[in-house]
Amino acid sequence: MRNFTSVHDIEDLQSALQEASEIKKNRFGFTSSGSNKTLLMVFFNSSLRTRLSTQKAAMNLGMNTIVLDVNQGAWKLETQRGVVMDGDKSEHLLEAIPVMGCYCDIIGVRSFARFESKEEDYGETVLNQFIQYSGRPVFSMEAATRHPLQSFADLITIEEYKKTERPKVVMTWAPHPKALPQAVPNSFAEWINAAGYELVITHPEGYELDAAFTGNAVIEYDREKAFRGADFVYAKNWAAYTDPNYGKVISSDRRWTVDEHVMSLTSQAYFMHCLPVRRNMIVTDQVIESPQSIVLAEAANREISAQVVLKRLLSNT
Ligand code: CP
Repeated sequence: MRNFTSVHDIEDLQSALQEASEIKKNRFGFTSSGSNKTLLMVFFNSSLRTRLSTQKAAMNLGMNTIVLDVNQGAWKLETQRGVVMDGDKSEHLLEAIPVMGCYCDIIGVRSFARFESKEEDYGETVLNQFIQYSGRPVFSMEAATRHPLQSFADLITIEEYKKTERPKVVMTWAPHPKALPQAVPNSFAEWINAAGYELVITHPEGYELDAAFTGNAVIEYDREKAFRGADFVYAKNWAAYTDPNYGKVISSDRRWTVDEHVMSLTSQAYFMHCLPVRRNMIVTDQVIESPQSIVLAEAANREISAQVVLKRLLSNT
């Protein structure tokens, strides 16, 4: 694997899931594969899980790690080509990226959608510049349109908890006070479709995602109908994707908070969320603290998804 930005970079999903299962049983069995190799993790946005789990995965493989928080202590970076740099940005990404590549063997990048331009966000401008100019294998630690390490961990978790071969997975929009990117729901839909599970997506009208990610998923505006018979409920907020509301919060309807009533309609579904989660906005205290909540198992599997990806990328260094 040269780069990892989506499920399309995984040739055989079943073999990747099998490798995840083996690594989980023996996570220190490959400590020589990353010996004398350096991982650089570049964060344009905040993180708790991605930062810790990816660093831990690299350590499991014997790698050294460097973490760069671009907005804390580094020069302010210009990302647009052709700009006269007479403002507060001292360095251009086009120099900064190859310089970063000099000091490492693999680069991880976190760069969220900015909601300034749909074309720029969905063109993955920052991530693609790292791929083009770093000279190193690059992986996404959540980009503008996808969060593949999270989705891979979500799928590993579903594999561990599923009671039927082809579970019904319901992804539900839930309210949030701020405009959040579509990366997690886009990516989750893509990975669940690749796994061949039944996927139902429920949200208020106006929150339709890009069909390039949702594929053949059923879009059901009636939330109670969507939840019936679900084996897994994946909650997430996202801002509107469709024009003219791209990047906007168009509903904060608290009736969409996942509560005990709507969970009671399911087939004793497991509750999932990528975290961080706003309690009593996205999900009630009762649901997230219930035995059906597997949010911590998902977070723990972030170490495993990162280790599989790093191990595969190391073979190209
Ligand atoms: N789920 C996830 O990516 O968490 P962080 O934003 O804390 O890394």
